[in-house]
Amino acid sequence: MPLGKKKLIAGFVFGSITWTAILATKAPDQKEEPYTNLKILSKKLTDDQMDDIMHRFNSDLGVTCSYCHVRKKNVPYPEPMDFASDERPEKIQARKMLAMTIQLNKKYFHIRLDDKLEIRPKIWCFTCHHGVLIDLKNPYNPHPPPPVISP
Ligand code: HEC
Ligand code: HEC
Repeated sequence: MPLGKKKLIAGFVFGSITWTAILATKAPDQKEEPYTNLKILSKKLTDDQMDDIMHRFNSDLGVTCSYCHVRKKNVPYPEPMDFASDERPEKIQARKMLAMTIQLNKKYFHIRLDDKLEIRPKIWCFTCHHGVLIDLKNPYNPHPPPPVISP
């Protein structure tokens, strides 16, 4: 009975994927160091969830991590990133934007993002930023304004 066998294999494969997924979510938090400077995001975020949020910032704004974060100082090369530092004004601005974006979802769309941001928001950074920096004066901007062509 080839069909039955296929179903069985499919069931087994699907079953093991689901199981892996469950194991993955139930696994204890593998966080190396606790977050020390979160003012908006939950300290309960796992490393994977934090990674998702931060990579989303990168792609929604068209930047890399170092647009908002600096490296540690007075340590030997290669200096590790100092993600907790608020040295860059872009990070401060992003934090305000994060608060605004959460507020917009809550006030106008009645979406209360849970403390792990697992609920899909209606509005996120991409809604306005479209993968590029809005402030065209910024030197990190990967998309300079097009040249003006005179008629
Ligand atoms: C557009 C700005 C922006 C970009 C780009 C960005 N981050 Fe962040 N990041 C923030 C802000 C803002 C916070 C603080 C959030 C808060 O206060 O709740 C933060 C916090 C963090 C933290 C927690 C630090 C702590 O201990 O408090 C980590 C880790 C982190 N970011 C990693 C990354 C990584 C890795 C990347 C690149 C993949 C990245 N970030 C890209 C803005 C940014
Ligand atoms: C409702 C639209 C909107 C949303 C949503 C939004 N932004 Fe913005 N953002 C703006 C505008 C408009 C500016 C320019 C503000 C200015 O020029 O003073 C800006 C500026 C910024 C800047 C400064 C850029 C620069 O060139 O100096 C950062 C960083 C930023 N946003 C990050 C974020 C992040 C991270 C999110 C998602 C959590 C987000 N924004 C969501 C509209 C938005």
